Amino acid sequence: MADSSSDTALRAMLDEVSTELGNLEPKFLQAARAARRHRFLPDRLWVGDGYEPCDRADSPEAWLRAAYADEPAVTQVNDGEDPGDGDRWPSSSASAPEIVFRMLQMLDAHPGHKVLEIGTGTGWNAGLLSCLAGAGNVTSVEVDATLAADAQARLRGEGFGVAVVAGDGAEGYAGSAPYDRLVSTCAVRTVPRPWLTQVRPGGVILTPWDAPWTCYGLLRLTVDDNGSASGPFSPYAAFMLMRSQRHDVRLFRDVVRDDHQPDESTSALSPWAVARDDYGAEFVIGLLLRDVWRAWHEDPGVDGVETRLWVATTDATSWAAVDFDGKSEDRFTVWQHGPRRLWDEVEAAYAWWLGHDRPGPGRFGLTVTATGETPWLDDPGRPVPAGG
Ligand SMILES: C[S@@+](CC[C@H](N)C(=O)[O-])C[C@H]1O[C@@H](n2cnc3c(N)ncnc32)[C@H](O)[C@@H]1O
Repeated sequence: MADSSSDTALRAMLDEVSTELGNLEPKFLQAARAARRHRFLPDRLWVGDGYEPCDRADSPEAWLRAAYADEPAVTQVNDGEDPGDGDRWPSSSASAPEIVFRMLQMLDAHPGHKVLEIGTGTGWNAGLLSCLAGAGNVTSVEVDATLAADAQARLRGEGFGVAVVAGDGAEGYAGSAPYDRLVSTCAVRTVPRPWLTQVRPGGVILTPWDAPWTCYGLLRLTVDDNGSASGPFSPYAAFMLMRSQRHDVRLFRDVVRDDHQPDESTSALSPWAVARDDYGAEFVIGLLLRDVWRAWHEDPGVDGVETRLWVATTDATSWAAVDFDGKSEDRFTVWQHGPRRLWDEVEAAYAWWLGHDRPGPGRFGLTVTATGETPWLDDPGRPVPAGG
């Protein structure tokens, strides 16, 4: 690949990122020119909705386009296992440039800061971090040993003194603690507690945050003197989940059984109000009902039901279904099974949100202690009760 074409692609990428984020400070531009994204990518990328292979040798222009697009460059599918005829899903990537630079801005790493990254992936972000914090100050943990070894080799080859550790980032990495900054590039549903003890008081933890109900954005925590951390959510970002926090629960395999006899009732709450039409409502349901997920079922093959929203706990013990008959938009049939009345819980969380004048996601935050997590509205002193 001639360097001039990658130079042009890099410039176009930085123009696009600068348009999105406002002009990037010179230190970020310098980092992007020093740690060039395409140099961290393997010869095979996975592109498009179906994650088709795109090989550098066969399609050098398409490969370079993918390398500098403002999109994740997917570098591994299905945890590196061959999916055969099955679906492909992304399990590692170089994240989209816009979110990478937005996170670097939010992280605010300075020369001399010790930084821990969780999720090395390609090593691109670790290279950028090394430009910002200084050689020898960045440690990065990757759960996939092959990816970790590849990233370490690329970082060395490009002249970046980053220590890559193969391991579970949920444990952090005590070997180089304490850190001034911890940044995760995989999403968490629960903030791993070792992160709190490995970041010094006043230090920052920045992580994508996700709820089973909805994928939301970023959480920026500041660690205090007591080993707790607190800070706001900010929109929007979608990252792959930390491996150890994935839930493999399937509706018709694990949750709903033929012999279940759910209770029937009706509800005035539209399923679209909490699961499609208003992102603020979706976020609050996700924040308050941390172990509840949902799935839409169009035309479920049931007489008189046009659309059904399924709701279930991640431990598969309780479920609810809410039916739209194609006509009535203010009355929905509800089925609930298990020890928890999940639709009642969704209604209560939604009513709490309405009762507080529909606060947007940017007004919420989270406090994390050694023993638990407490969401809050506007201020850590204003906790939001679990379940609304
Ligand atoms: C979006 S990619 C990382 C992007 C990366 N920072 C880059 O610049 O290329 C997320 C990575 O997190 C890794 N990951 C998932 N769970 C992990 C865990 N428990 N510990 C460490 N890494 C993990 C995945 O294997 C994947 O490589």
